This record gives sequence, structure tokens and C-alpha cells, in this order.
Amino acid sequence: MPSSLDAYLGSQSGSGPHRQELADLIRHLSAAAVKLRNTIIAGGGGDNLGASREATNAGGDVQKELDVVADRVFMEAAKASRVAFFGSEEQDEPVTLKKDAPLAIAIDPLDGSSNIDTNVSVGTIFSILPVADEHRADPKTVFMQPGSRQLAAGFFIYGPQLLLVLSVGNGTHVFIFQPGFGGFVELRPSMAVEERAKEFAINASNYRHWEPQVRAYIDDLLAGSEGPRERDFNMRWVGSMVADCYRILLRGGVFLYPGDGRKGYARGRLRLVYEANPVAFCVEQAGGAATDGVNRILDVEPEGLHARTPLVFGSKREVERVARYMADPSALSERSPLFGKRSLFRS
Ligand code: AHG
Ligand code: MN
Ligand code: MN
Repeated sequence: MPSSLDAYLGSQSGSGPHRQELADLIRHLSAAAVKLRNTIIAGGGGDNLGASREATNAGGDVQKELDVVADRVFMEAAKASRVAFFGSEEQDEPVTLKKDAPLAIAIDPLDGSSNIDTNVSVGTIFSILPVADEHRADPKTVFMQPGSRQLAAGFFIYGPQLLLVLSVGNGTHVFIFQPGFGGFVELRPSMAVEERAKEFAINASNYRHWEPQVRAYIDDLLAGSEGPRERDFNMRWVGSMVADCYRILLRGGVFLYPGDGRKGYARGRLRLVYEANPVAFCVEQAGGAATDGVNRILDVEPEGLHARTPLVFGSKREVERVARYMADPSALSERSPLFGKRSLFRS
């Protein structure tokens, strides 16, 4: 019998600060995820969960009905726990809950909103941070801590299975919801991302907006066995980062959402605090890597709750390679069929 999430959280409760409160919060989040899954399975009981509302969120995205439902469900979970501040993609400002509590949570309540209507996997991404006294005067500052300070992070996937990918800083573990049991049990005890990628994920429709370095990198992957990489790569793009991330945890690969030339996309689309940081935490804890092209994601000090970041994560060697393409544009000018086999580009 695999061990339950509850037992796992109990076994982790001895190490590190605020472990009991952390375990309690993750239990509440899991119950909220089950609730949201039931709403999704029921198709909203006749309400159209993918319907667009009048409102846009802080990032300028049109809110879908399910974005708002998810935000409410997870805020209730945070309220029931020892959480001082709740920062959500769907709310402009952080909300103060229990002023003196030790934890803060940043959340993307519904990741993959454009997939709601199409019955493709969507998810919830969360990042749990410690609250220090200096944060209490100005709640915004709690979410300006670098991702390396996260106490725990993870994401739920509402797909054919309801999964929880979780790291409390001691490896990355996957739990699956078992309706018969009424809770989550361990599915994959310790994830290890393959160092070498065979697949890549990027929204290729933005090709013409990318910087030359990104184009060069993707061109080399597309050239496959006939190009400088001398091997073929496969491509997958779900459009829900949670699903792309889980696939990469399972079988390796690299995900890119770079900055591009479109208006408002200079720093890409993804948000540092509640998308990139938790994903980077889980990926690193599984032996992978995550960068904004220059810096390790977990070292970046966020400018605010909704700050965007270019994001590249996945198999370590591949992420390092992307960073080399980004750092050394001069090498690109030397990249020609003649110099195509320079060691920088060969794997
Ligand atoms: P959200 O639904 O929270 O706005 O996030 C969607 C994100 C991410 O999951 C996905 O990888 C990416 O946005 C898709 O963006 P494009 O539609 O630009 O491909
Ligand atoms: Mn998202
Ligand atoms: Mn979202």
C-alpha cells in the first residue's frame, strides 16, 4: 500500500521551520483541489466554466469563470490555515488573512485557462513562503523574496488523473488522488529529471517575435540529425505549463517561454512568483534546472507579485545550453554550415 500524503506530511513535520503549519496548509490545499476537480468533472453543473467574464486580471488576461471559482476555493483553504498573506494571479493586491501567522502563499489558481473549454489538463500552482516581521508592515514585500526562500511549492493537475507534484525541499514527490480512499497517495516517491533532453516545448507561433538567440537554438533543434546537434528532437506543447512540466519531470525535455518582441512580452508571459518559482523549485529538487536565460530563476528577486519572467526549465544540460546561446551571441555569427559542429552547439 503506497503511503498517503497525510503520512508523508507527518513524516516531514520534524525538519525545518513551521513544518506543522506547512503540513496543515498543504492538507487544506489538497482538499480544495479535490473540490475544484469535482466542479471541473461536473462541467460546472451546467454553468460554462470556460466562459469569459467582463473583467481582466492583473496580468491583463480576460478572466474565465473557472479562474474566479478556483481563486475563491483556494483562498478559503488559505483562510482555514496559518496563512498571513494570500497573493493570487486573479487579485491585484495581496490579501491579508491572519496577520500574525507564519506563512504566505502565492498562487496561480487556474493554470491553462485557454484549455478549460477543450477538456485538456489544467492546474493550480502554489508557492509557500515564510513571513518575517519586516514583511508584516507591507505585505507586498513578502512576495519579493527570491524563490530559493520557498518552504514548499508544487502544483495540482486536473487531468485524466488528479495529481499533486510537491516539494518541501526534500526531493520532488508525486501524489495521486484516489477517490475510493478519499485522499492522495504517493505515486512517484522521488522524481529525477533526465539530464539529456529529447523533447522541447515552446509556442512556435511566436517564432518571428523571438530574439536571434532563441531562433538559433530552436533552428538547431529542428535541424535534428542533419544539424549541429546531430540527433532528432520531438516537440510537445500543451499550453498548460503544469502538464508540460509534469511530462518533463517524467521523461526529460526542455520548456521555453522566452521574452519576445510583442507588445508587453519583453519578459515573456509567465509570472515569476506563482508560476516560475514553484515550477523551478520542483524541477531543481528533481535534479533539473531553471533559468531566465541569464540568472537561475530561484535567485531572482521579484519586483512584485505579478512580475513576469522569461522561463526555461527542464533537463539540466539542455537548460545550460540555452543559457550559453543567450550569453554568447558572438558564437552565433560564427555558426555556419562550416562551423556548425563547434563544440558549443554539439551535444
Ligand atoms: P494562465 O492560464 O494562468 O494564464 O497560464 C497559462 C500559461 C501557461 O500555462 C502556458 O504554458 C502559457 O501560458 C501559454 O501561453 P500561450 O497561450 O502564449 O502559448
Ligand atoms: Mn498560469
Ligand atoms: Mn491562471
